[in-house]
Amino acid sequence: MSAAAPIAAREVVELRELVKRFGSVTAVDHVSFSIHPGEIFGILGPNGSGKTTTIRMLCGLLRPSHGTALVAGADVAVEPERVKSRIGYMSQAFGLYRDLTVDENLAFYGGVYNLGPALAERLAWAKRVMRLDELGGRLSGVLSGGQKQRLALACAMMHAPEVVFLDEPTAGVDPAARRLFWTIIRERAAEGVTMIVTTHYMDEAERFDRLAFLSRGKLVALGSPTEVKQQFGSEGSLEDIFVALQERDA
Ligand SMILES: Nc1ncnc2c1ncn2[C@@H]1O[C@H](COP(=O)(O)OP(=O)(O)OP(=O)(O)O)[C@@H](O)[C@H]1O
Ligand SMILES: [Mg+2]
Repeated sequence: MSAAAPIAAREVVELRELVKRFGSVTAVDHVSFSIHPGEIFGILGPNGSGKTTTIRMLCGLLRPSHGTALVAGADVAVEPERVKSRIGYMSQAFGLYRDLTVDENLAFYGGVYNLGPALAERLAWAKRVMRLDELGGRLSGVLSGGQKQRLALACAMMHAPEVVFLDEPTAGVDPAARRLFWTIIRERAAEGVTMIVTTHYMDEAERFDRLAFLSRGKLVALGSPTEVKQQFGSEGSLEDIFVALQERDA
């Protein structure tokens, strides 16, 4: 695989007045923020606040109605294919081929990304870092929830993306699997990969480097967990803020 061109900008993701409308619904409403390389960045907000829609625009999958977003040096509206080659996306309803083994799923994604001769090395890397080493021959359909989740992240990272979007990756997995998954996310960020994550678990949110809080499609707070609490003038936790927002929006 050819190496991606170096990024001139300091920020790896930059949203400027990004808007997405679906008919009369404004799902994302003039949102602007930027993300630094290697950050673990959270997008938080109640159901329907625009998290998935924002991520899908940043992945080059949905065209913005207005505004721009630059991801890994490419404009999502102008060069969506270039964006897709530089990012990984683990969607809210990630799809694995249940009747393929772990190795076959990884090889399939390696093929999609044209890894060619680099495939074997990358496949071994993916299994090692995602703690799937013993499971290469196992059918994906019979893996545990945590193993499926790690395989989905492995598939999304086969092409060594510099930015990875994870939409509610830990929903429905047990606490031990969740903890291991976060260890893996931190390891990838320490290697310089930018990890952008949505979650409804506020214990996870407290550990983001920075986060963007969305409510009804609008950015209502931005910064480290401590800064976000200050912006709300909250003495309490992110969970308190979240619940207050949800009650206000209900
Ligand atoms: N393809 C679509 N067509 C019409 N409306 C849509 C579409 N996708 C999303 N929406 C609407 O846009 C708004 C934002 O949805 P979105 O899925 O981005 O929220 P979310 O923050 O990811 O929510 P959740 O926490 O439930 O995953 C909602 O009102 C949703 O109904
Ligand atoms: Mg969503």
